[in-house]
Amino acid sequence: MNTSDAEPRSSLSRRDLLGVAAAVPLAAPAIHAPKRRRRKGPVMVGSRNALAGMKLAYPKLLAGAAPLDAAIEVVREVEADPNDSSVGLGGIPNEDGKVVLDAACMDGTTHNSGAVAAIENILHPSEVARLVMERTDHCLIVGRGAYDFARMHGHEHVELLTDASREIWLKWKETMSDRDDRLPPPVDADEKHGSVVPSRFERHGTIHCSALSAAGEVACTTTTSGLAFKIPGRVGDSPIVGAGLYCDAEAGSAGSTGRGEAAILSNGSFAIVELMRQGRSPEEAGLEVLRRIVRQVERASKWQPALMRSDGRPAFGIQFYIVDMQGATAGVTMHGGRTYCAADPDDGPREIDLVALFD
Ligand code: GLY
Repeated sequence: MNTSDAEPRSSLSRRDLLGVAAAVPLAAPAIHAPKRRRRKGPVMVGSRNALAGMKLAYPKLLAGAAPLDAAIEVVREVEADPNDSSVGLGGIPNEDGKVVLDAACMDGTTHNSGAVAAIENILHPSEVARLVMERTDHCLIVGRGAYDFARMHGHEHVELLTDASREIWLKWKETMSDRDDRLPPPVDADEKHGSVVPSRFERHGTIHCSALSAAGEVACTTTTSGLAFKIPGRVGDSPIVGAGLYCDAEAGSAGSTGRGEAAILSNGSFAIVELMRQGRSPEEAGLEVLRRIVRQVERASKWQPALMRSDGRPAFGIQFYIVDMQGATAGVTMHGGRTYCAADPDDGPREIDLVALFD
């Protein structure tokens, strides 16, 4: 780019800015004014695996911590947990046996976001995403650049592949084809390590947390090791603003776990926040987007039949975690039998059944 074409920011005078302000209406036009309810107080909502972190961070949100600080504290717990194979340390690796992470955060009050994608050997990608938001003019940094950026800010190089996740990966590699020279592991190796290879549409795992303060500031974060055994370079929804997370202090916050491609193709988190802006409750907005995804999959399954089960329901799972600006929360899922967690001043952090589109 020829930098001489770019207008330096400092060249805009106060009068220019006032002129722009006079020309552009600042308040967003109300489409259907949502009914005003009294805000509940600080609220958190997130995926099931956010519960342990929420128990630590929610009291701080109650005591006045910033929502972004609280949300990142929640997901840090799981990023560092070797027993959660969907995120960070101990995450299931890609096709090549490498643990490769994606994360993003968004501040709905300042309307800013940061993200890293395809980052390796960094324990807390959610914190690096925050550095991208706060210490750069960018929204997303990927791959080696993201790793170097994290190291530059003092993050240590960490080996994220644990023995347990390496065993799962090795078993996947040894059992996925009868057209190569690898043999299935001996049965007693399975007994020893208990390694269970997830089936094609069970390979997603992620953690999301949204937080709303009593004063109406809202923020969220999503972090993941992504699809297990993914093609090297594949990036899911988690670091994509609008797909894996979105928040706006005019409407609320949403984030997703499950099949990232469906969240990207539906722009699911953004769509939910926009529906809430138009007056839908968190649950109505979430279910509407799930119905949209079903219609989209019906069309896609013409060329990718494995996406649809024989009973006409999507073959994959996807969940959304939602909070509106009055503190009403919801968790919705394509298929039943799952839970999410939420915290509010009445009941504190707890696990709740997701509302399922299909039982
Ligand atoms: N939802 C996480 C992923 O698909 O990467």
